[in-house]
Amino acid sequence: MSELQREFRDALGSFATGVTIATTLAADGEPVGVTASSFNSVSLDPPLVLWSLAKNSLSREAFSASGHFAVHVLAASQRALSDRFARSGANKFDGVDWLRGALGAPVFPEFAARFECRTRHEYEGGDHIILVGEVVEFEARPVAPLLFLAGRYARHQPDSEPAGDEAEETMDILNEALSLERALETVVEGKLGEAELAEARRLMQRIVELARGASS
Ligand SMILES: Cc1cc2nc3c(=O)[nH]c(=O)nc-3n(C[C@H](O)[C@H](O)[C@H](O)COP(=O)(O)O)c2cc1C
Repeated sequence: MSELQREFRDALGSFATGVTIATTLAADGEPVGVTASSFNSVSLDPPLVLWSLAKNSLSREAFSASGHFAVHVLAASQRALSDRFARSGANKFDGVDWLRGALGAPVFPEFAARFECRTRHEYEGGDHIILVGEVVEFEARPVAPLLFLAGRYARHQPDSEPAGDEAEETMDILNEALSLERALETVVEGKLGEAELAEARRLMQRIVELARGASS
């Protein structure tokens, strides 16, 4: 691989994706599958998806000939399965639970989402072929998906809601401290001398500064 190709691949790697395993049945009835992150949605009506397969993949002929495929969007817990199906030619299905799906492609019982497709188009795409499938069955489950970014598996970090809650809490403290300052002023006014009042103000000011510091 040339330096330019490496840079190109690395640049593409900054596009975070999920991880799928695409499966089909070979002409001899053997199950076939590959790990693929090139999966994407194409159309809602009709429901179409696509993914691309390296031309030098051992599974290429089976995917081109079968006329159907299933795509399993993997759950975060399925990293080992992803690794297994990323090894070219190995006995990928040994010891793996699978059934024949609606169109005949092998389907796994576990997934974050599963799409069973009839192959509608096969396009030429340089050193890959692009397979477009019409979805005839699908199912999704509320589990964390496996992610892939910059050539590595990645973990999904939920957006910063807790931080938002924390900021809100700090603002509450700040507002309380300010009202306390005002209340204290009314209580001590007239009862304390100028010096004591100034000291009380200074202390309350300090509390406010501390609360501000905690919120930044
Ligand atoms: C996270 C990940 C994503 C991959 N995505 C693709 C892909 O989209 N298309 C592809 O052809 N290969 C992809 N691969 C590589 C194939 O999974 C690998 O070449 C596979 O073993 C080919 O198997 P085969 O030669 O037995 O058909 C990916 C590998 C990994 C680990």
